[in-house]
Amino acid sequence: MEGTVPDDFELMWGDLRPLGRSASSGGYFRQPFTSPERELVAWFLEQAEARGLRVESDDFGNIVAWWDTGSGPAVLTGSHLDSVLDGGAYDGPLGVVSALAAVDLMRSRGVVPSRPVGVSVFVEEEGSRFGLACLGSRLATGATSWETARELQDRDGVRLGDVVVGGSSSLLADVGTFVELHVEQGRDLVDRGAAIGVASEIWPHGRYRFDFTGSANHAGTTRMEDRQDPMLTYAMTALAANKQARLAGQRATFGRVAVEPNGTNAVPSRVTAWMDARCATDAGLSDLVEAVTRQATDRADRDGTTVEVTAESVSASVAFDSSLAAALAADHEGGDWPVIATQAGHDAGILSAAGIPTAMLFVRNPSGVSHSPAEHAEIADCLVGVSALADTLERLTR
Ligand code: GLV
Ligand code: MN
Ligand code: MN
Ligand code: MN
Repeated sequence: MEGTVPDDFELMWGDLRPLGRSASSGGYFRQPFTSPERELVAWFLEQAEARGLRVESDDFGNIVAWWDTGSGPAVLTGSHLDSVLDGGAYDGPLGVVSALAAVDLMRSRGVVPSRPVGVSVFVEEEGSRFGLACLGSRLATGATSWETARELQDRDGVRLGDVVVGGSSSLLADVGTFVELHVEQGRDLVDRGAAIGVASEIWPHGRYRFDFTGSANHAGTTRMEDRQDPMLTYAMTALAANKQARLAGQRATFGRVAVEPNGTNAVPSRVTAWMDARCATDAGLSDLVEAVTRQATDRADRDGTTVEVTAESVSASVAFDSSLAAALAADHEGGDWPVIATQAGHDAGILSAAGIPTAMLFVRNPSGVSHSPAEHAEIADCLVGVSALADTLERLTR
């Protein structure tokens, strides 16, 4: 590339800033296979070409830009370019921009890796369109089959099978190690006063659909005691989940809900709500979901409604490669970087579960806020991340 690595990093960042940004909220809407997200992908392909990287894609839309040097198992680094609805700028793209900048930094140092280095972009990491998080990496590793995934539908009823060819992937066939850099999504690094940190593990987590069914009726003429109101059952379930998770140091969130017929003057007939639940242990996650389901069922009995609970996806706990994590954490003149657990899901977790030695680097987020336009990272901290990533890639390909 032309300029210095910090300048080029800022330029890349400037390129991405307007893409898919809402003028009203300042947040990002980069749902997979929509035009804003495709603009980011086109940008990535241009960046790969400008660096002379060889681009390889699979049938699902995952991409790797290869620096074909050396031989043997490759070292892959990267993240995703899609966002949640009204998301922040950094969740995903920071890992991709940093991976490209780390390649630039290695080249500026005259490093010639003895193994291929790939910059990866996994598709639909957030599950914001088709509902299944880490969809691209699940398909690339075979954790989810194409036969199952092709039937997933977005909110307009468009099937995944209608927007991608689908089939198979050999993108990860020769990958020996994966390193994902990501903006931190909580306050751990702020509290510890550290620019970057290293991941130890991902909490088990899952998405559960609650279908509450009652009877539609007139909001004025139906006596309160004569109603079968699924909204009431839903509301009490959300409160119960919040209390249950708070008492046990776990996480439970109802962030998405659909109401039928969704009219102000009608008791609803149906409420569909999705619970996102996360716990430190797999057993804790099962206990939480069981307890919330029990309370929802009890409440439905009292309300004259019914509830059905479906686990749409469950991700078991992931422990990252501990020797890789320890080496990353120790790689710092001023002392060890913190090693922290994360409650967020990542493609790195899927690759790790597939048996690929994997590590994650987090860059401090001064707002501590993520999945929101308030997400932030300072350029100085990002550059510490790029440098740590380049050091890691260099060590892994020596
Ligand atoms: C993905 O970002 C998740 O953890 O929900
Ligand atoms: Mn995210
Ligand atoms: Mn992410
Ligand atoms: Mn994520």
